[in-house]
Amino acid sequence: MSTSDYLNNFFLGYLPYIAFGVFFAGFIYRVVKRNNTIQANSTQFISKDRGLYWGSLLFHYAIILVFFGHLFGLLTPKWVYDWFMSHETKRMLAIILGSLSGGVALLGITVLTIRRFTNKRICATSKFQDYFIVSLLLLQIALGLWSTYLTSQSTVEEYMSAGNWAQGVALFKPDSWRFIADLDIVYKLHIVNGFLIFILFPFTKLMHMIMIPIRFALDYFKKF
Ligand code: HEM
Repeated sequence: MSTSDYLNNFFLGYLPYIAFGVFFAGFIYRVVKRNNTIQANSTQFISKDRGLYWGSLLFHYAIILVFFGHLFGLLTPKWVYDWFMSHETKRMLAIILGSLSGGVALLGITVLTIRRFTNKRICATSKFQDYFIVSLLLLQIALGLWSTYLTSQSTVEEYMSAGNWAQGVALFKPDSWRFIADLDIVYKLHIVNGFLIFILFPFTKLMHMIMIPIRFALDYFKKF
């Protein structure tokens, strides 16, 4: 096996399972053992900055759309949409909706990053983790948008290869990494950085993304 095949096999074949393993084990540990530490430490109590409010609003709504875009674009099997949508239409939708939602997410996270690094009151309460996570998200979104740009310049077969890979990984097919082994390095950096975010997720404030909606739903149903 060549060095390049070895690296592709490790990062696109094994890393997804390592990342999800750490994610689920860490998630259970955090919920069971350290539930009271799950919070977002909102900076909106510290600073009444309007930019912060808009940055946060744009980022959170756009990232939810990006999440559903990934679910549909990568993990939805062909038979679900083949009867009403061609692969070319799906590619066009991914490019148009992906650029829009990704663009808004980039705007939001850029505002949040600038505020995190420059607002004196926010800096005073920020930990290393806060700077690191926001920078990682900024990088991830920029790489994602760059990937979408590359998709707009490539063939429909290249676009479909990312979905074939993701679904192969989900079904434990060991050679799935070969689907995307020849794609541009930008896609691979986006994927590897994405799995790094998954690995860090349970040990950081990102946990609020899952726990706040769950707590909200539980509180809502307690009323009945
Ligand atoms: C490890 C899991 C991930 C995989 C496999 C993945 C894969 C991809 C792929 C293949 C694209 C290009 C879509 C196209 O062809 O147009 C993309 C785009 C994008 N990704 Fe990811 N991604 C992952 C995680 C993330 C995370 C955690 C974020 C944000 C925090 C993110 C944000 C974006 C954005 C903003 C875009 C551009 C807009 C869009 O197409 O939705 N991705 N991603």
